[in-house]
Amino acid sequence: MTTTIHDCAIVNLPKTGEDMRGSLSFIEGGNHIPFPVRRVYYLYDVPGGIERGGHAHKDLQQLIIATSGSFDVVLDDGHQRKTVTLNRPYYGLFVPTMIWRELINFSSGAVLFVLASNTYSESDYYRNYDDFLQAKYGN
Ligand code: TYD
Repeated sequence: MTTTIHDCAIVNLPKTGEDMRGSLSFIEGGNHIPFPVRRVYYLYDVPGGIERGGHAHKDLQQLIIATSGSFDVVLDDGHQRKTVTLNRPYYGLFVPTMIWRELINFSSGAVLFVLASNTYSESDYYRNYDDFLQAKYGN
């Protein structure tokens, strides 16, 4: 199946304990996200104006969360682009395989937290946009 930006979805994560002690959200693999979590990583201390991402994954699925602050995720399936702003710790952005993404507009103190379906593998990346298009759609 060829993924499109319409397969990228905001997941409303459970939010409990909205009292004077603060809030709590949680994520269960196979329940709130359609994959078992095999890796967690996070970006932080991103200086203002810096852009990250700029790649697609062959097989990796991810859920991206702004656990603190905010940033924009630009999603691109090779035909269409859309920008999703993440700015609450109870929203996750599901990104399936073969979607080009760019990460921009990091606020001060932003933490981009990722749950991933597999461990890190550089061979899973397309870091060149034309290679991504070629692999996805051919000539
Ligand atoms: P990269 O995925 O290029 O970061 P971004 O897309 O956010 O700009 O990763 C940056 C570096 O970190 C790169 O050398 C690979 C390494 N890395 C790991 O070793 N393990 C990981 O889980 C991730 C995501 C990256």
